[in-house]
Amino acid sequence: MYTAIYPGSFDPVTKGHLDIIDRASKVTDNLIVAVLNNGAKNSLFSVEERVKMLEEETAHLNNVTVKSFAGLLVDFAAECNANMIIRGLRAITDFEYELQMAQTNRILNHKVDTFFLTAGLEYAYLSSSTVKEVAKFGGDLSAFVTPKVAEQVKKKINS
Ligand code: PNS
Repeated sequence: MYTAIYPGSFDPVTKGHLDIIDRASKVTDNLIVAVLNNGAKNSLFSVEERVKMLEEETAHLNNVTVKSFAGLLVDFAAECNANMIIRGLRAITDFEYELQMAQTNRILNHKVDTFFLTAGLEYAYLSSSTVKEVAKFGGDLSAFVTPKVAEQVKKKINS
């Protein structure tokens, strides 16, 4: 039984994240999308809002659940009986950070391994920060996020 965790900030969830979730759900039995509850980080959306958006966007995937976590990812993985961490890799610039994180996590808990999926080519440039930057200046978000998420980002930015 492969239970995997796909962790992230998801502030907000992008089409790139959804592509990874979709593909990861096909190669795992259970996929837990884990939203980082980091009080110190300056997030646009609250953790509850991010979880809700992800639940709506993944409702069609039967083996996907969305949870939030605080503290160490490997501790949350152990709590969920998950033996895989899934991360998306966009470009070489992601690699150093991802390698460091994967190795740190493996030292903290050798039973948990990290598996990388390469980002879809059409999303290789995409990040939540890009979405927020474009939204700030009133740009079209349709290539980056779903219509529902776009609406919520615009509402939040303009509030
Ligand atoms: O979407 P992000 O911001 O790139 O996700 C980063 C995340 C949430 C995967 C990472 O910050 C994380 O796992 N934080 C929890 C704290 C932790 O376990 N740190 C040790 C690994 S270096």
